[in-house]
Amino acid sequence: MRTPLIAGNWKMFKTIAETMKHVKALRPLVKDITDVEIVVAPAFPSIHAAAESLRGSNVLVAAQDLYWEREGAFTGEVSGAMLKDAGADLVIIGHSERRTLFGETDATVNRKIGAAFAADLAPIVCIGETLDQRERSETLDVLDRQIRAGLDGVTSGQLVQLVLAYEPVWAIGTGRNATPDQAGEAHAHIRQRLRQWFGAEAADLCRVIYGGSVKPENIRDLVAQPDVDGALVGGASLDVKAFFDIARNAAEAFR
Ligand code: 13P
Repeated sequence: MRTPLIAGNWKMFKTIAETMKHVKALRPLVKDITDVEIVVAPAFPSIHAAAESLRGSNVLVAAQDLYWEREGAFTGEVSGAMLKDAGADLVIIGHSERRTLFGETDATVNRKIGAAFAADLAPIVCIGETLDQRERSETLDVLDRQIRAGLDGVTSGQLVQLVLAYEPVWAIGTGRNATPDQAGEAHAHIRQRLRQWFGAEAADLCRVIYGGSVKPENIRDLVAQPDVDGALVGGASLDVKAFFDIARNAAEAFR
């Protein structure tokens, strides 16, 4: 019912030359993985080169952020139309690093989701609790708040195009992934809320992926959870072989 998705968030890594080397190696490696959607998200300067090199392949390109205005005097910002023009088909929005280091809020996430749809980019919207929030048993409330405010105004028709990435902040870049049970609990809760707020039909088509210390060794157990539809991979996505192994192991586990 949902096509699994494995996406690599490269964060602020890789020059254009490094990007080209990576995607040229990745393209033939993953060409036979047809039942999982594969996405790479390079930094802005490398998007165009990556998209050109991956044209006609089964790998899509995502941006890591966008600004909500179409154009204007917004020094340093990049619009959805510019990203689409550069060859991106998706865009990551509200990553926890953007929230904690760059002051993004559910309100800015909401505006960016609108801008993504306006530019025909599929939003990959990141949500997730901090360690403090988890220890205070606030995880599910935090997720509710982030979904409600972040996705305010999103229609059921749009939800089907949107990807939610559950990324517990304490699992990002720490080597400490959520256990399959922890991920399963959060994803089941998210699915239930989506059903409540957007209707069962749209909720059952919306992909909810997990992020946080995903590796070739733990991907199978994570995607074995019924509501985990794939992964948003950080560190391990920088290595072609590790990213391929994650995509292949996921494809096998979903079969
Ligand atoms: P790591 O896989 O490096 O923990 O990063 C996860 C992440 O932030 C993906 O967006």
